[in-house]
Amino acid sequence: MKAARSSTHPYDEASLEVPQVEITLHVNGTLHRLRFDARVTLLDALRDHLALTGAKKGCDQGACGACTVLVDGKRVVSCLMLAAQCEDREVTTVESLSEAGAPHPVQAAFSRHDAFQCGYCTPGQIMSAVSLLAEGRAESDEDICEFMSGNICRCGAYPNIRAAIRDVASGG
Ligand code: FES
Ligand code: FES
Repeated sequence: MKAARSSTHPYDEASLEVPQVEITLHVNGTLHRLRFDARVTLLDALRDHLALTGAKKGCDQGACGACTVLVDGKRVVSCLMLAAQCEDREVTTVESLSEAGAPHPVQAAFSRHDAFQCGYCTPGQIMSAVSLLAEGRAESDEDICEFMSGNICRCGAYPNIRAAIRDVASGG
């Protein structure tokens, strides 16, 4: 006689169900109560659940910086962070930078210095630059290169990106 299959069999469909989590995300000053698969990344929560599509999905594995946002004021690659890790933390995305329609100084400098071509990496570059400037790490071109090295620009706009950051760092 065949033994009845246990409900905890590793291939039992029920055992493959992913737990749902209910979390509160504090994004750009607004609280959102959300329920989703516990594996959802911060990037997917922002883009797919909150329609904040400024942060881009480039590599989805932490290598390009296109998805950079701030969590508690520090830059993170949001494709490598679970949304559930951000409960009760302050998430800031590129959408919140401009005030009353006026671009943030870093956005204005990127525009002045033509610091982009296709623009896909630009939101991540800008969020990294905002954080870099707040950290006081934009004192020299070498520092800018070093501390922006996690943000890849496939169009090669690096000289202009550096010029834009230098401009803001020197009060421009
Ligand atoms: Fe997150 Fe590339 S999409 S680092
Ligand atoms: Fe195209 Fe940077 S402007 S990838």
